Amino acid sequence: MPYRVTVIGTGYLGITHAACMADLGYEVLGLDVDADKIRRLNSGELPIHEPGLEPVLRRGLESGRLRFTTSYEEVAAFGDVHFVCVGTPQKRGEYAADTTYLDNAVEFLAPLLDRECLVVGKSTVPVGTAERLADKLARLAPAGSQAELAWNPEFLREGFAVEDTLHPDRIVLGVRSERAEKRLREVYEPLGEVPIVVTDFATAELVKTAANAFLATKISFINAMAEVCEAAHADVGLLSEALSYDDRIGGRYLNAGLGFGGGCLPKDIRAFMARAGELGADQALTFLREVDAINMRRRARMVDLARELAGGSFHGCTVGVLGAAFKPNSDDIRDSPALAVAVTIGHQGGQVTVYDPIALDNARKAHPELNYGESAVEAVRGAHVVLLLTEWQEFVQLDPVELGAVVAARRIVDGRNALNAGMWRSAGWHYRALGRP
Ligand code: UDX
Repeated sequence: MPYRVTVIGTGYLGITHAACMADLGYEVLGLDVDADKIRRLNSGELPIHEPGLEPVLRRGLESGRLRFTTSYEEVAAFGDVHFVCVGTPQKRGEYAADTTYLDNAVEFLAPLLDRECLVVGKSTVPVGTAERLADKLARLAPAGSQAELAWNPEFLREGFAVEDTLHPDRIVLGVRSERAEKRLREVYEPLGEVPIVVTDFATAELVKTAANAFLATKISFINAMAEVCEAAHADVGLLSEALSYDDRIGGRYLNAGLGFGGGCLPKDIRAFMARAGELGADQALTFLREVDAINMRRRARMVDLARELAGGSFHGCTVGVLGAAFKPNSDDIRDSPALAVAVTIGHQGGQVTVYDPIALDNARKAHPELNYGESAVEAVRGAHVVLLLTEWQEFVQLDPVELGAVVAARRIVDGRNALNAGMWRSAGWHYRALGRP
């Protein structure tokens, strides 16, 4: 492999990218400012839950091709291609994205770049960021124009991070020179046949935000239909199925329920609106405000439905919550709809016990005020109402008869339209779901 690769920032994206690059045969050096994380990574321990990633990490470490460091000097000396994968969280009290980590990374790295290299941004950013960082790089790097910037957004989903990285459905290269394009094409060559779209910086940045805005819109669309279904006594599950057979619409991201959460979709659509406002194009994205509002209303509706089942008030009511992660196969609780609902019910006087197969530790740290069970059965023991809020396979397979024997009352709200309603009803449960009669 001709190029040596570095990966700056070891979150979901960075760890996965570093490990997969090593798996493709590259020599890879990952960097993070968190020394404890680096220590854990170097000993083969994943600081996140991501199916299939640990073996890839271990393989990389054992092959000697993958290492992690906290030293920018080492990174600058090592790399021909530097991938920047740091986070861009939502600013406190604002919609806009906070690009401080990104600016810091470039400010640390650039003054050390004294040879020919490519710095490749992968983080999700407000459009215009790449141009600003390119100026910064040009100003700070001793290598001058030999140290060049490119933008290469990442579309991986948590839970499928390895699969999405090794088999992406497209690669977007925002470049300013043929040299940069050629190098990135070479770097991704081991992935085989993947459609590559070559663009300017701004388009590359926008592809990512547009993709997330579209996905969020699709989810909120079906959740808006769920609201209408509730009013019209129709069934959003069947509606969605019927829509899905239309190729132009397609069935993915059309599951009605508690809506979207996580570290990406919610903050990305907000940052997108904020940036469009700065550019004077805010009208173009006012619909995203509605997308966000529909999404947040699902959480409120879930609480209302649970309260209704509890007999009008949560006081003296025990609520068993199944799910804390923002989606199944993840331990990520960032902006988790499930936890938001659990916390609100707690505030309204309910005794809430939460269980999640993987995200329990994270949930406990973030919300010590809630009770936690060590299994689904334990979480719902003595419950007056059970809520299914994250559709883990383990919950979908629960036996309604077994669960019915431990609850105080057989009442369940299926927040993800994941359960077989007929089966639960015939086991004597009062079954309700969002968007269904
Ligand atoms: C998302 C994008 O899919 C990914 O391309 C981008 O790089 C990062 O953001 P991720 O946050 O991992 O990935 O989650 P995703 O699988 O897209 O799900 C997002 C949320 O939408 C979850 O809370 C999920 O429960 C919800 N969702 C998804 C629905 O409510 N209904 C659906 O039909 C699909």
